[in-house]
Amino acid sequence: MKTYKIGVIKGDGIGPEIVDEAIKVLDAVSVAQGFNLKYDEMLLGGSAIDETGVPLPEETIQGVKKCDAVLFGAIGGPKWDNLERHLRPETGLLGLRKEMGTFANLRPAMVYDELVNASSLKPAVIQGVDIMVVRELTGGIYFGQPRELHEDEAFNTMIYTKEEVRRIAVVAFDIAMKRDKRICSVDKANVLEVSQFWREIVEEVAKDYPEVELSHMYVDNAAMQLIRDPKQFDVILTGNIFGDILSDAASMLSGSIGLLPSASTGKGVGLFEPIHGSAPDIAGQGIANPLATISSASMMLRYALNETVAADRIDEAIRKALAEGYRTGDIGDYDAKEICTCTEMGDIIADYASR
Ligand code: NAD
Ligand code: IPM
Ligand code: MN
Repeated sequence: MKTYKIGVIKGDGIGPEIVDEAIKVLDAVSVAQGFNLKYDEMLLGGSAIDETGVPLPEETIQGVKKCDAVLFGAIGGPKWDNLERHLRPETGLLGLRKEMGTFANLRPAMVYDELVNASSLKPAVIQGVDIMVVRELTGGIYFGQPRELHEDEAFNTMIYTKEEVRRIAVVAFDIAMKRDKRICSVDKANVLEVSQFWREIVEEVAKDYPEVELSHMYVDNAAMQLIRDPKQFDVILTGNIFGDILSDAASMLSGSIGLLPSASTGKGVGLFEPIHGSAPDIAGQGIANPLATISSASMMLRYALNETVAADRIDEAIRKALAEGYRTGDIGDYDAKEICTCTEMGDIIADYASR
């Protein structure tokens, strides 16, 4: 029987709760599809600090390299917020993405028909929304040097090399070719040199994709347009910080940030992670929505393991559960027949996905 080695990083806050449900679903589909998943748990973030003193232990860096793919929950929380920056959970996550070379973060923002009433926007505005945010993940202002904090001033550096922009643009154009062949590249070229540079390189890459329609938009306008008329977008290509912000905004088209998955891919092993954080405000209550993580597991099966039927099973199980009115609290006010806990939602998806 085919066996895949899956790195599992549960992390902090709701991380362990949501990852446990994703594993439950993965186990169900692997049995149904006749392959084997072997899990290797690793530490990252706050829980790694508590156990080892650092947010990204060497064991994790080495461990992920030996896996076929890595499933990740979320890190961070108030307990670790006042540590020095190099010791913070978030620094551990950024370090891991850099180590793994996962420069392309794919964040699909889709609206389930069953949840059109769950968004804070009108159904007519969001029905049929299907956007792929392609976010550059290992460069830009998150990583630029110099970066310093002093008593009277502080600064970061927003920097992109030609190769960094080119390779993320290629990912976006390749994806667009399999979709509606439209890319909107989002930047702040009216103010920032780094964005002007970004735009020029994206234009250059576009020459290799004559079938793809390329447009450019300033990030402030893009934030507004996402809310005004999200259906105008197919693929959004953007840098690290703009992609972080726009994808959280886009999540509310779907009804909850607890729904949106992501795939961080690039040079080697991929990292599959929900777009949301560790939600300390609801951690330990059993009410987190596990669907973003379960969908991330589906992306892992599809993109890293090429187990497309198993991935389809999960996606269909999610639709079916939503169609039948099962909801976690974050989407609970809308057309809900039954409000589920995190565990109950995992049980339902695992059950449907295995049939
Ligand atoms: P967050 O995404 O954790 O939470 C924002 C809001 O959304 C909260 O009200 C939370 O309860 C809700 N929410 C998030 N996920 C949910 C889910 N699955 N189900 C139901 N509700 C959900 O963002 P934040 O509050 O700004 O950050 C909290 C911590 O998480 C911080 O330490 C931050 O640095 C970290 N963070 C980590 C990641 C990651 O690990 N990839 C991503 C974002 C934030
Ligand atoms: C995300 C998070 C991270 C990011 C933080 C926690 C470093 O917000 O995955 O979206 O900004 O990339
Ligand atoms: Mn974010």
